[in-house]
Amino acid sequence: MAEQEYDVVVIGGGPAGYVGAIRCAQLGLKTACIDRWQDPEGKERLGGTCLNVGCIPSKALLESSELYEHTQKHLGTHGVRCGEVELDLAGMMARKDRLVNNLTQGIQGLFKANQVEWFKGHGQLQAERQVKFTGHDGKEQTLQAKNVILAPGSFPVELGCGPFDREYIVSSTGALRFEEVPKRLGVIGAGVIGLELGSVWRRLGSEVVMLEAQDRFLSFCDEQVANESLKIMSKQGLDIRLSARVTATKVDKDKGQVSVVYEDENGQHEERFDRLVVCVGRRPATDGLVSGPVELAMDERGTIHVNEHCETTMPGVYAIGDAVRGPMLAHKGSEEGIMVAERIAGMGSSVNYDTIPNVIYTLPEIAWVGRNEQDLKKQGVPYATGVFPFVASGRARAMEDTTGFVKLLAHAETDRILGAHIISSRASELIAECVIALEFGACSEDLARTVFAHPTLSEAVHEAALATLGHPLHIP
Ligand code: FAD
Ligand code: NAI
Repeated sequence: MAEQEYDVVVIGGGPAGYVGAIRCAQLGLKTACIDRWQDPEGKERLGGTCLNVGCIPSKALLESSELYEHTQKHLGTHGVRCGEVELDLAGMMARKDRLVNNLTQGIQGLFKANQVEWFKGHGQLQAERQVKFTGHDGKEQTLQAKNVILAPGSFPVELGCGPFDREYIVSSTGALRFEEVPKRLGVIGAGVIGLELGSVWRRLGSEVVMLEAQDRFLSFCDEQVANESLKIMSKQGLDIRLSARVTATKVDKDKGQVSVVYEDENGQHEERFDRLVVCVGRRPATDGLVSGPVELAMDERGTIHVNEHCETTMPGVYAIGDAVRGPMLAHKGSEEGIMVAERIAGMGSSVNYDTIPNVIYTLPEIAWVGRNEQDLKKQGVPYATGVFPFVASGRARAMEDTTGFVKLLAHAETDRILGAHIISSRASELIAECVIALEFGACSEDLARTVFAHPTLSEAVHEAALATLGHPLHIP
């Protein structure tokens, strides 16, 4: 017999679940959100992976480490001299922790303000939309829901031949908490996490070696962007080794090192590192999410099957965020949370999956939206390309930061913009105008006829649109 009844019970308080829960409550639905996250001190926290060990702490360290390297190496060019620059790693980590603390508490405040009830512990979906809640104190309760939103998120994939020991072989979570700068840092997987966290520790002084199984760097990016970024990042000092298949790892506690054996086309190699970060993808956290006679379809990886409106195979049960198909991105999960909340409230909301921006927060940043050149070739879509390099941008020159370019792809016949790919400083901000252009179904001529402030980096988007039409002004 259920003890409490709700219009909506959300399982998971990450960016998908907490945003969905707030939107439900805003729409007048009686809403509970169950989340089991506890920090290393056992304190319960909302915000899931993103706020606690993902987007926010990684961006805090990226920002701090960039400032450190910039002050050390680049201020002189601007005629700014300073004394010796010292790293206070404990101070840098403390700032990151304060930021995480403030933001997670902020969500707690939002829950209170919107009257979302927060249940601290494990949630499990049972038949008839009943949810079993087990508190951290072991006490159990059953919640009856008219609707259930599953937003359990994901966790890092472990390497069969190198399981996490949380000291020498760590996931991204461990790599956000090193107490010393590792002299030699091994990174397995040159994907998004590998590049971001590899960059942080390289800037702080580690010698970083990245072992990537695929023969193509950033195979999910536009090839021209991927090739450019490989050149730049290698020049920065990231030792990126492609086609590297790791076959064994061994921790030597006496030496405080971990050895890694890998194979590539030149044979077998062995490397020793002070720490090893394994970032070879993430998997939905759906183990133990359901019990009893429920028919929730999932694939063998634990990804919950949903349609375009995030409806699962069980009526009244929705799933959103990293636990369902699509990119594992915070903003994608949040938009799904909003869509589901609004649909429960009777609105006809949807998510445009074709215009979700992606960003890799290295320096330069890599950002894209829509289709890339390989996709268009494969699909046989006729297209025009416009590329504008930042070396021709007055603002980039004033910033002494001219790396990268903007690349626009438009349909050759209709001129409709199909994709935008940017590699540059602040590409994460520049991509937003391209997302809006795609969302509004703009043509490159629309961007070309829009007035952009001078001198700004965003003028490069304008120039790329002119280049797509065949008449750029500031490139020969
Ligand atoms: P999560 O954030 O994983 O939240 C799920 C929550 O549900 C967790 O709190 C979990 O404890 C709880 N939970 C799970 N099962 C249960 C249960 N049965 N009962 C109770 N609670 C449960 N994305 C970006 O868009 N931008 C970035 O810059 C970015 N940087 C990242 C950096 C790193 C290092 C990592 C690891 C990820 C990053 N991501 C980034 C990805 C982003 O964090 C995820 O896409 C996002 O957090 C997914 O949101 P979610 O709500 O689906 O799941
Ligand atoms: P990823 O999918 O970005 O990269 C994993 C990389 O590891 C791939 O290049 C893959 O080829 C490689 N790989 C897989 N198995 C391997 C093996 N055995 N040996 C060597 N290489 C191997 O996954 P990552 O970096 O773990 O990130 C997980 C998710 O988190 C991403 O999908 C991303 O969406 C999200 N994320 C997003 C961020 C952002 O938006 N800026 C930042 C960090 C994470």
